[in-house]
Amino acid sequence: MSDTQSLQVFQPPADFVSQAAISGMEAYRALCAEAERDYAGYWARLAREHLSWKVPFTRTLDESQAPFFKWFDDGRLNVSYNCIDRNIEAGLGEKTAIIFESDDGTVSRVSYKDLLVRVSRFANALKASGVKKGDRVVIYLPMSVEGVVAMQACARIGATHSVVFGGFSAQSLRDRINDAGAVLLITSDGQCRGGKSLPLKPIADEALALGGCESIMKVVVWQRTGAECAMQAGRDVFWQDFVAGRADFCEPEWVEAEHPLFLLYTSGSTGKPKGVQHSTGGYLLHAVLTMKWTFDLKPNDVFWCTADIGWVTGHTYIAYGPLACGGTQIVFEGVPTFPDAGRFWKMIQEHKVSVFYTAPTAIRSLIKAAEATATVHPRNYDLSSLRLLGSVGEPINPAAWMWYYENIGGSRCPIVDTFWQTETGGHMITPLPGVTPLVPGSCTLPFPGIQAAIVDETGTELDWGKGGILVVKRPWPSMIRNIWGDAERFKKSYYPDDFNGQLYLAGDGATRDAQTGYFTITGRIDDVLNVSGHRMGTMEIESALVSHPLVAEAAVVGRPDDLTGEAICAFVVLKGIRPEGDAAKKMIKDLQDHVGKQIGPIAKPKDIRFGENLPKTRSGKIMRRLLRSLAKGEEVTQDTSTLENPAILDQLRRGV
Ligand code: WT7
Repeated sequence: MSDTQSLQVFQPPADFVSQAAISGMEAYRALCAEAERDYAGYWARLAREHLSWKVPFTRTLDESQAPFFKWFDDGRLNVSYNCIDRNIEAGLGEKTAIIFESDDGTVSRVSYKDLLVRVSRFANALKASGVKKGDRVVIYLPMSVEGVVAMQACARIGATHSVVFGGFSAQSLRDRINDAGAVLLITSDGQCRGGKSLPLKPIADEALALGGCESIMKVVVWQRTGAECAMQAGRDVFWQDFVAGRADFCEPEWVEAEHPLFLLYTSGSTGKPKGVQHSTGGYLLHAVLTMKWTFDLKPNDVFWCTADIGWVTGHTYIAYGPLACGGTQIVFEGVPTFPDAGRFWKMIQEHKVSVFYTAPTAIRSLIKAAEATATVHPRNYDLSSLRLLGSVGEPINPAAWMWYYENIGGSRCPIVDTFWQTETGGHMITPLPGVTPLVPGSCTLPFPGIQAAIVDETGTELDWGKGGILVVKRPWPSMIRNIWGDAERFKKSYYPDDFNGQLYLAGDGATRDAQTGYFTITGRIDDVLNVSGHRMGTMEIESALVSHPLVAEAAVVGRPDDLTGEAICAFVVLKGIRPEGDAAKKMIKDLQDHVGKQIGPIAKPKDIRFGENLPKTRSGKIMRRLLRSLAKGEEVTQDTSTLENPAILDQLRRGV
């Protein structure tokens, strides 16, 4: 895998240009020009054409309380109605909405009609147990039809869900329940991944026992693994008992367009994870538009997004977008490497997947597996059903792009490298398959109507060809509305005073090609790491480390990693003497387990180094830039003359 090969340009294939929803650069430019001419009018037109409203809106964009923007705010609609009922009304009742494949390969299908019944019964059960519009419901479930049903049921009654990824720890779950003030928790006895059965309800019990979750009135437990699990009388109820006897139809709650559809916690550069609050109308509009324009979803497509519902990708491109477009999609419980690393390719073949959306980290690990074991190489599978590929979560390196293009897409399928964030709700900068000539490694051009730009520290827009700070110049419908319970932090994080509160700060650096204006994302400019496409704050990991009784101080940085994009590297000062040899190895394992227990396995540092101290300036500031060089194994070229304790560098240079 070499990244030095000269980069080709891949023109949109003729069949895309002739039939794609947006076909040809002229059509793209016309949309951008329309938005330029009449920004609010453009989005209003799309919102009327692509969503079904119970009460039509008359106001499009309200900027009077900037940066707390409102879209379509006097309109009313229901997301679940838009995702299910309107498809049935359009004659798609018998169409398969979800093809579910379990970890062990068992396949089941859910039609739109079935989905309406399952969502309605669960929604009615929620209502009967006292959950009301605006109440928060935390969902801690594995990948399942039940996960989608629970989310849709919340949307149906106007409850605001907050999904917590099943890999997060009891402490992380507790913090999210506490911050959201949730009234109900939906979980399962356990989950099946890679042939193993793992507990979930015991972790939920542990979370609730930590205290601070007193707002929880009820815990609904879906029995997935059949594992024995303790049920607390009066609080816990099994899913089938919860829905027993509930009516097959639930009238949707018609909510205001600005009503919070969900909160989703994500990491920032400081403090605890923030509850990103999304709207109903604006969010759904972008989910639908990007399904149609970026993924060019057609009635006969089989769409597969491999994300987990615990992340925003699984919200927009599993729970909502595909359904809102009447699509057929795969929901997969398992992992890409079980029973072997050919699992994805086998599933694409068997279900005739036509649009496939995954993360660079998965591609890189499957390249490695295919190179090591011939039988799991994609050439052994019939992937001819594919017509479009997508990438998300982190920059895709050109070598991985080329492999994906040639080996999975048969040099026939465009790749949409979609740049976006939890906060943006949907794609922001992305190729459109019938429009954009592709350059491996570049997410190319803004989605029509999105005003992305690159600025310097003063907020001045830079000429193409220069690198700087990625911003969005105008509010857009699917943007974050607030940080739950912390409006000040919302302003500080996304509309900082540095830019007079006028520009949305993405937190990424980017460059634009001098000729084409194509964007390339160069990575986070704050203390946020991206490990295997998962977002993690260095401060969170540091807090987890120092909560260990033997740790005096810790500093965490990222370093480039061939497989995971970035890897977590921790520099630790212990309270006792600095360990060496086997003692150090044991301590590393202890600390990794400790972080896993505090946050979740995805946050375990790959590399831990011990010092008697950390490199600090005379004023006591940790020199993180130096630590980043040490983590990479580079020679330290920075000026170390301001360093209080230069001798420490030798201790930290090498791991154990
Ligand atoms: C961060 C957002 C987008 C949903 C999943 C991650 C990075 C995301 C790309 C891409 C380069 C990307 C950015 C961004 N990122 N997509 N196509 N190319 N970088 O959502 O957890 O909120 O993380 O992921 O750094 O800020 P998230």
